[in-house]
Amino acid sequence: MSIPLKNKDGIARMREACAVAAMVLDSLKQLVRPGLTTQDLEEAGRDLIASHGARSSDYGYQIGSRRYPAHTCISVNEEVVHGIPSIRRVLRDGDIVSLDVTVTYNGYIGDNAVTVPVGRITPRLTELLDVTRDALDLGIRQAVVGNRIGDISATIQAYVESHGFSVVREMVGHGVGVKMHEPPEIPNFGRKGTGEKIKPGMTLAIEPMVNVGGHRIKTLADGWTVVTSDGSPSAHFEHTVLTTETGPEILTLPRRSP
Ligand code: MF3
Ligand code: CO
Ligand code: CO
Repeated sequence: MSIPLKNKDGIARMREACAVAAMVLDSLKQLVRPGLTTQDLEEAGRDLIASHGARSSDYGYQIGSRRYPAHTCISVNEEVVHGIPSIRRVLRDGDIVSLDVTVTYNGYIGDNAVTVPVGRITPRLTELLDVTRDALDLGIRQAVVGNRIGDISATIQAYVESHGFSVVREMVGHGVGVKMHEPPEIPNFGRKGTGEKIKPGMTLAIEPMVNVGGHRIKTLADGWTVVTSDGSPSAHFEHTVLTTETGPEILTLPRRSP
């Protein structure tokens, strides 16, 4: 399937959907503190999404015969992505928590994620968060017209591995627009000069998932929660980016009004 290019109207709507996704994520991350449950964050996220007149793209999202049961994905420590919020999961001082917010607004979808510390965390975990955020930033800078998708992938991988961390391979970034997952796939590893050529009007969700230990992952019996196989902590940062003739534009930055 070919990569959908957004026209002027599609881009305007993407801007709005992504601004909502960003504002919700920004508010949510400021609530994080020891003692909260991941269900508390879910309920805050659900209400924030509704307050913007948007809806969660996650809720009811289907993979195979399963439907995702929550409005947000909240993944703690060794959980990589797709953590299902729970009243039993209490955030503790020293944890890291990944918040992934995806909303549908006016028919278009914005997708973004951050990992934040809970209270005080170790220097190694601080480094994990910094490296993952910087890897996303460097990847975004490769989303330039004329480059290829593999330029994003290779740049992220090289940076992460140079810091002694590993990139998850089975899960990838993706095009995003009227559907949550559109072509192309955007792996966080690969080779420069490979993959599809980047053209103006692509909207790409770039999202490195980085492990302190090995790159291997597995899915828990709940059918959703992805964890590292070796139990090592994992971080995840994501932005939705528009490609333009004048360079990449991050759409998931919080704004005052949508
Ligand atoms: N936000 C995720 C992504 O970055 C997808 C959510 S999966 C769902 O692609 F099951 F929660 F919907
Ligand atoms: Co996401
Ligand atoms: Co995504």
